Amino acid sequence: MSRLVYVLNGPNLNLLGTRQPEIYGRETLADVEARCRVLAGELGLDLRFHQSNREYELIDWVHAARGEAGGIAINPAAFTHTSVALLDALNAFEGPVIEVHISNVHQREAFRHRSYVSLRADGVIAGLGTEGYALALRRLATLIGQAGDAKVPGPVSR
Ligand code: DQA
Repeated sequence: MSRLVYVLNGPNLNLLGTRQPEIYGRETLADVEARCRVLAGELGLDLRFHQSNREYELIDWVHAARGEAGGIAINPAAFTHTSVALLDALNAFEGPVIEVHISNVHQREAFRHRSYVSLRADGVIAGLGTEGYALALRRLATLIGQAGDAKVPGPVSR
C-alpha cells in the first residue's frame, strides 16, 4: 500500500494560533504541519498537507488521494457537522481515514456532537489538542503497514 498520506484541514484552521486560543491553543497550522513533517519522516510516510476554507477543494483533494494515497487524516472543522458531500467523497476513498478534532467536540454545543465524517472514519481523535494529528499519523502508519503485511504470504502451516 502507498505510504503517501494526506492531512486535510477544513475552514478557519488557517487561523489556528490566533482563533479562540482558549479552545484551539496557540500553535499555528504551520507549526502543526512542521511537526507532522518531522514525524512522517520518522514513520517513513510521504505527506501532503493542505488546508482550505472551500468545501469543494477538500473534496477535490480526497478525489486526488483515491488510487494514490495510503490514508487520509482529516480535520474537517465545521464541515464535519454539515457536509454529506465530504462524506460521499471519503466513502469513495479506499484506504483508512482518521478524523481529528483539536477540541473535545462532545463537550461543546450539541450541533458539534454529530459528525457525518465519523460514519466513514476508521478512528476519531478529539480533545487531544494538536497532538491528535501526530496520533492520527501513527495510526495511519500502523494501518498502512498492516495492509502491506497482508499482501506478504505467511508461512504455510502443516
Ligand atoms: C474542530 C471542531 C469543529 O466543531 C469546529 O467547527 C472547528 C474545529 C476542532 O478541531 O476541534 O473548526 O474540528
